[in-house]
Amino acid sequence: MRYRGAIGQWSWVLHRLSGLGVLLFFVIHIIDTSWALFYPGLYEKAIAIYQTPLFTVGEFLLVAAVVYHAYNGLRIVILDYKPQWWRFQERAAWWVLGLTALTLIPVFLLMFAHVLDYYNANPTMLSLGVVLESQIPFVVGIVLAFVVSIILSSLVGLFSGDSGAQKTTASKGGSRSERFWWSYMRISGLLIVPLVFGHLAMMHVVQGVFDLTVAGKSVVGVAATSDALLGNAINDTGTAVEFVGERWNYLVASVAVWRFYDFALLVLASIHGFNGLRYVLTDYTMSNPMLRRASIYVSIIGGAIMIVVGGGALIGTIDNSAVRIALESRVDLGLEIREAEGVERSPFLEEWLNEIEGGQEAATGTGLDTGADTESPAVGDDADADDNAEASDAEDGDTAVSDDPDDSAESGDGDE
Ligand code: HEM
Ligand code: HEM
Repeated sequence: MRYRGAIGQWSWVLHRLSGLGVLLFFVIHIIDTSWALFYPGLYEKAIAIYQTPLFTVGEFLLVAAVVYHAYNGLRIVILDYKPQWWRFQERAAWWVLGLTALTLIPVFLLMFAHVLDYYNANPTMLSLGVVLESQIPFVVGIVLAFVVSIILSSLVGLFSGDSGAQKTTASKGGSRSERFWWSYMRISGLLIVPLVFGHLAMMHVVQGVFDLTVAGKSVVGVAATSDALLGNAINDTGTAVEFVGERWNYLVASVAVWRFYDFALLVLASIHGFNGLRYVLTDYTMSNPMLRRASIYVSIIGGAIMIVVGGGALIGTIDNSAVRIALESRVDLGLEIREAEGVERSPFLEEWLNEIEGGQEAATGTGLDTGADTESPAVGDDADADDNAEASDAEDGDTAVSDDPDDSAESGDGDE
C-alpha cells in the first residue's frame, strides 16, 4: 500500500494472484479429472461438487482470473519485446482491465444462464459439509509436498552446504537457465491462450459444467463414430465419466484429437504454472538458502505430479464398465439424473438403472457394448424407473430420475 506504484503495481499484484488462483484450481482439476479413468465413481462425486453453489462462485472467479491473467500476460509479452512502447505501459494496463471486463460481461451472462437452468430444474445437491470435507485431501497433499521439499532441501544443505545453493543462482549458468525460463513463460503463455480459451468455451459457454451430466445431451466437440455407448457422441447415461469418455475416445483420422489437445494444455500449463510458483516462492525466500531450495523442489515435484497423473489418465481408455460404475455412484450419492428436453431415455440408462435399482449384481462390461441387446429382458421386472426416486429421495423430495412422468413411458417397454 505504501509503495504507491499506481496501476503498474496493481497489475503486478493481480497477475500474481490470478496466476496462483488458476494454479490452485489446476492442481485440483487435474487430479480429479484423472479419476474419470482411475476412480469413475469418485469422478461423479467430484463433478457433483463442482455443481454446488460454492464451486459455482469459484467457477466465475476462475474464469475471471484466467481472462485477466491471459490478457495481462499478453501485455507483458508484447511490451517485453517492444521497449520503445514502454511509455504506453499505463495505458496498456488500463486496456487490459477494459478488455477483461468486456470479455467477462457476455461470458458471465451465458454462464449464468446455465446456472439458472440448473437450479431451476431443482436438482439434488451435495451438502456444503461434503463439499468442504472433499477438499481436505488436496490441502493435505499440498502441505505434504511442502514438507517433503523442506526435508529434501535440508538433506541437500547438510551434504553440500548452503553456500553452494547461493552460488548456483548467482552464477552465469544460473542466469542462462533463467533466460530459458523467461522465454518459456512467454512462449508457453502465448500457446496456452487459444488452448485454455477453447477449453473454457466448451466447458462453460457452449455446454457448461452443468451440462456434463445431462442424459441424452450431445457431447461438445465430437461427432458420432459408431452407435456404441461411447461412440455415439451422446451422453446416454448422463454421467460425467461418459462425457469425458466420448471426448477422449473421439478419433479424427485415427487421432484422438481431444487427448492431444488436453495433453498439450496439461504440459504447457503445468510447467508454466509451477515455474510461476517458483518465481513467487523464491521472491519471498531470498535470504534463506534452505527455503529457497525447497521452493524450487516443491515446484518441480508439483509440476511432475501433474504431468504424470494427468498424462496417465490421457493414456488410458474409459470403457463401458467405467460408465456403469459412474452411474452406480450417482445413484448411491442420490443425485438426480437429469434428461435433455425432448430426448428419449437411452436404453442403456433404462437397463442399467433397472439393474442397479433392482439390487442385482453389477453386470459390469458384459454384453452392453451396443444398444442391440437392450431388447432382451435384461432385468425383467417392470419395477419402473421411478423407483430411483425413492432410492435417491429424501433430500428434497424431488423426482430423482425423471421430472417428466412421460419419460419412462416413452421408452416403450410398457413399464407403466
Ligand atoms: C492464458 C495464458 C497465459 C498467459 C499469456 C500467461 C502469461 C504469463 C506471463 C507473461 C507471466 C510472467 C512471467 C515472468 O514474470 O517472467 C506469467 C506468470 C505466471 N503465470 Fe501465467 N500465463 C498464462 C496462463 C497461466 C496458467 C494456466 C497458469 C496456472 C496454471 C499460470 C500461472 C502463472 C503464475 C503462477 C505466474 C507467476 C506470477 C508471478 O511471478 O507473479 N499462468 N504468466
Ligand atoms: C471450471 C472450469 C473447467 C471445467 C468444467 C473443465 C472441464 C474439463 C473436463 C470435463 C475435462 C475432461 C476432458 C475433456 O473433456 O477434454 C478437462 C480436462 C482438462 N482440463 Fe479442464 N476444465 C475447466 C478449466 C480448466 C482450466 C482453467 C485449465 C487450464 C488451466 C484446464 C485444463 C485441463 C487439462 C490439462 C485437462 C486434461 C486433464 C488430464 O490430463 O487428466 N481446465 N477439463
